Parts: sequence; structure tokens; C-alpha cells
Amino acid sequence: RIVYVNGNYVPEPDAKISVFDRGFLFADGVYEVTSVIDGKLVDFAGHAARLRRSLAELKMEMPCSQEELLSIHRELIVRNEVTEGLVYLQVTRGVADRDFVFPSAATPPTLILFTQSKAVVDNPLADRGARIVSIEDIRWGRRDIKTVQLLYPSMAKMIAREKGADDAWLVEDGVVTEGTSNNAYIVTQDGTIVTRDLSSHILAGITRAAVLKCARDLQMKVEERPFTIAEAQAAREAFTTSATGFVCPVIEIDGAAVGDGQPGPVARRLRQAYVEESR
Ligand code: PDD
Repeated sequence: RIVYVNGNYVPEPDAKISVFDRGFLFADGVYEVTSVIDGKLVDFAGHAARLRRSLAELKMEMPCSQEELLSIHRELIVRNEVTEGLVYLQVTRGVADRDFVFPSAATPPTLILFTQSKAVVDNPLADRGARIVSIEDIRWGRRDIKTVQLLYPSMAKMIAREKGADDAWLVEDGVVTEGTSNNAYIVTQDGTIVTRDLSSHILAGITRAAVLKCARDLQMKVEERPFTIAEAQAAREAFTTSATGFVCPVIEIDGAAVGDGQPGPVARRLRQAYVEESR
């Protein structure tokens, strides 16, 4: 596999990062994951805009122009012959002697990108529907910034797996924030799609924006507000969205079947609409 590191396209074994990289020592960096369908990037502009915002919130510069980022993405897709999968991008504050104080703004950032080839459209989990458990959300308070500090989401996913579930929904002050690496939705008994409103409590998903637009275009009713696990268990349907999962139905929450325990029609319709639109 060919990866990109600070201006160079190199075979993965030759890609090297300093032990003093602040991404490694302080999780001082941000990332984006953009999916690829039929060799084409899905919603690159949205991911680039969120990257710019994440960097600005952490007082970091864009490592290069958006056009250059796009051409690096495309080059990696071509070099690695990716027809379906994703491109991962990470920017860190660069290399500096270990100090809690940020290094000078002149310190060059570290920019790395790599691809993963995998089936994203035909996904067995989306056909079967995901089983979810709820776990307390103890992440930091700036989840709107897509930082690389993913230890708690990773632990939450492991807890879910140990309990025989596929993933976890995170709960804070009695209401759902989001999934470990996706946004969370329910469809109420009267057919309204409900998902948490945007704030620093959750990441503003690029797929979330696109899917809510699809839903509104399809004349579905959307409400952006918090909901509880009890409301989700009593809902007609539940689902998640993310760049790699698109729209994924949820069939069970904390052992209780959602609706009839099968992927629901709203989730299936939105998945199909979003994938079609992305082709
Ligand atoms: N995760 N919320 C969290 C906490 C996330 O990590 C993600 C994405 C999302 C969905 O955002 P988007 O639709 O822009 O992918 C919501 C990516 C896919 C990951 O960490 O692999």
C-alpha cells in the first residue's frame, strides 16, 4: 500500500513519523475519514470544511490548500486502485520536544493520508441491523472537534463487543449524545426522524447533514433534539450515520428490540437514497 507522508508517496514500510510527533505524545491532531464509492470521493468538500474548522478551533493552520488535499486523496485512490473503501487523513501539530505548551506556530504540521479498500455499499451489518448497548459518555467537552483522541470510543466499542453487541450509544445527563463513531437517530411512532441537535456535545457528521437533507427532500419530518434510551427502545426504528457506515439500521438497544427487531423502512430508504446520490 502506498501512503502519503508530508509531501511524499511512499510504500507503507518506508513511512516514518518522529517519536516526538505531538499526535503521538499528546493526541494533538485532527482527522477526517472520507468514503470512496466507484473510485470517487463522497462529500469531499464537507470533510474539507470540517477539517478547516477542527484545525481553527485548535489554532492550527491548514497544512496545504483544499485543492492540494483533493489531489492527494485522488492520487492515493489511483495508486492503490481503490474502487470502494475510504481515505483517512490526519494532521498533527508536528514535531517538538515534549512540552504542554504548544510549539511555535512555525512548526510544520505532520500530514499523513492512507487508503483502506473494503466493501462499504454491501455491508452485512447494514443488512442485519446493529445491536447497540448504552454506555455513559465520559469524553471531553469538545466533541465537535474531530481529534484523534479516540481511546474512550474505542473502549466503549470493546465493552459493547464483550456484551455481544455491535456498538455503543453514549449517554450523558440521561440523553443520547451519539454513537462511538457515528451519529444516532430514532424514528418515532408518528414517523418523525429525531437526532441530537448540533453543539459541542457531538460531532457534526458530514453524513448527518447529507442524510437529513435527503430526509427533508423525501418529505420526511425531522426534529433535532435530545432523546433518551427509553424513547429509542419504544421507537419504530433506530439507525446511525457515518462516512463509512452510511445509514446503518439499529435493531436492538440494551437487549430490547426496536420496532419489530428488523431493519426499518425509513433507514433502508435513506441508505439507498444516500448511496445513490453519492454514486
Ligand atoms: N467517525 N460522531 C463521531 C464521534 C464520529 O467519530 C463520527 C465519524 C461521526 C459521523 O461523522 P461523519 O458522518 O462525518 O463520518 C459522528 C469516523 C467515520 C471514524 O472515526 O472512523
